[in-house]
Amino acid sequence: MSTDSTKPLLQTVNLSRAAVLAWYDAQGRELPWRVRPDARARGMQPDPYRVWLSEIMLQQTVVASVRGYYAAFLTRWPKVEHLAAAPLSDVLSAWAGLGYYARARNLHACAQMVMDHHDGIFPQTEAGLRALPGIGDYTAAAMMAIIHCAPTNVIDGNIERVMARLHRHNTPLPRAKAQLKAIAAHYVTPIRAEDWPQALMDLGAIVCRPKNPDCNACPLNQFCAAAKAGDATSYPRRAPKKVKQVRFGAAFVLRRHDSVLLRRRPAKGLLGAMSEVPGTVWGVEKGTSKLWLEEAPVTAKWCACGTVRHVFTHFILMLDVYEAEAPESYQINEGWWAALNALDDEALPSLMRKVLAQADMPPK
Ligand code: ADE
Ligand code: SF4
Repeated sequence: MSTDSTKPLLQTVNLSRAAVLAWYDAQGRELPWRVRPDARARGMQPDPYRVWLSEIMLQQTVVASVRGYYAAFLTRWPKVEHLAAAPLSDVLSAWAGLGYYARARNLHACAQMVMDHHDGIFPQTEAGLRALPGIGDYTAAAMMAIIHCAPTNVIDGNIERVMARLHRHNTPLPRAKAQLKAIAAHYVTPIRAEDWPQALMDLGAIVCRPKNPDCNACPLNQFCAAAKAGDATSYPRRAPKKVKQVRFGAAFVLRRHDSVLLRRRPAKGLLGAMSEVPGTVWGVEKGTSKLWLEEAPVTAKWCACGTVRHVFTHFILMLDVYEAEAPESYQINEGWWAALNALDDEALPSLMRKVLAQADMPPK
């Protein structure tokens, strides 16, 4: 069994690296923002803007969900100066559906800072990158490796999982994070420094998958303690999950002809500056229709359409959805009427897309 101070033998490190890099050469993914080793050997260089954009989008999101958004962003804003010059609301609309909207606000702020303070060129040190909005340890290390071939220790969930299994590391996450990072550091060298983290990430996504790892097809098989013990899926160990708090509220879908009433959320906080239909505050008390409707934007013939459940990072939301046609006399005092056939252009978070679908008006 391995301990917290696991230090693989240098020879094991070298053999493991060689096996993973050979696997990457043969089976690594073609990704739109990636310059594969053969192309790099022919002199192609990755574009820092594209690498940065992809890494921000990929935080907490899988490649399959990112591809479409990435292509749309690049078409609309091919260079960092275009993104910096875009209105924030356009960036939020284009981001809608990807989740974690603080990332989109930081993305925009970061592009502006690169233009205003760095002459449009991303800093070329980890510390310089980390000073930008939305760039943390992971993104700074990944950008330095991928763009500048720097031997940085890039740690994401995939790499953590591979290291935990490889060494059958028994400390549970999140406590194990620093230890897994120390273990991963033993594998970082200046040789093919740009390929190593990308190879590990691909391995984690394709072979050393969270649920059913394909140990038979894995280049690390003969080095892997968990594969040997046959218990790969019980790594990484995790501390028992905290039960999430449940919050309750109501959302009001108010129609006028072929439009629906939307408003903007406050700039700061959860889903900041995104669009929403009017609603109650989200509290810990389960409400009744009678209570909720007292907070509706207008007295109308409100119909209950059911409840939407949505999982946020820190709580679960149960949102009762009501729908009504606005009375002729109704004048809005906040928000705007959004055409139903143009809802896709609004900065609607996934939660609000579910609410509108629940009221039979899915965004299109
Ligand atoms: N996930 C996040 N960043 C990635 C990258 N550069 N390559 C593969 N998967 C990733
Ligand atoms: Fe993961 Fe299995 Fe490969 Fe070990 S052998 S790294 S558990 S896929």
